Amino acid sequence: MAETERLFFALWPEPQQQRDWAALAREMIPQDCGRLVTAQNLHLTLLYLGEVSQQQRQTLEEKAGEISISTFVLRLDGIGYWRKPQVLWWGVRDIPEALAGLVRSLRQRAVDCGIEVDQRPYKAHLTLARKVRRAPGRLLAQPCDWRIGQFTLVRSVLSPAGAQYEVLRRWPLLDQA
Ligand code: 2AM
Repeated sequence: MAETERLFFALWPEPQQQRDWAALAREMIPQDCGRLVTAQNLHLTLLYLGEVSQQQRQTLEEKAGEISISTFVLRLDGIGYWRKPQVLWWGVRDIPEALAGLVRSLRQRAVDCGIEVDQRPYKAHLTLARKVRRAPGRLLAQPCDWRIGQFTLVRSVLSPAGAQYEVLRRWPLLDQA
């Protein structure tokens, strides 16, 4: 069988941003509340692709390079909890059209490459903690504006210690004049 990789498109914060958010999560989330995502793993998924062949990856990278969307600002402004996957996340209440457009474009290109994508409505979120077995009390975080200047293709390698992520490629968004 052809070799595949587990891939996804994401918005990947700068390392300093990741460290700041990890520190914020440590302060805000009670200690018995699951396992915090490590700073270097903090990200916001745009489109999960699953197992992708080398041929699909190559075509997808070419198509991703055709996307022309301007830089935008994303306001992270709500903490939420999903019981089934047991994750605590920082989310985006109002998805800007630029983000919705970027996700639509990536989704269409993935479908064109024969990749089966999740049909559920997109929920922009940045997972802060996993294995959170019950809903924490009300958690408050100051809204944070994140300037988005690029999007990335990331590989996920699963190991007993958890997922390891590697940013494979970055595509800049168009600078607004
Ligand atoms: P999560 O943070 O909510 O778990 C790499 O695993 C990234 O892809 C994570 O951000 C994860 O979201 C997301 N992901 C993993 N499996 C997925 C799936 N089956 N459908 C949608 N997103 C998935």
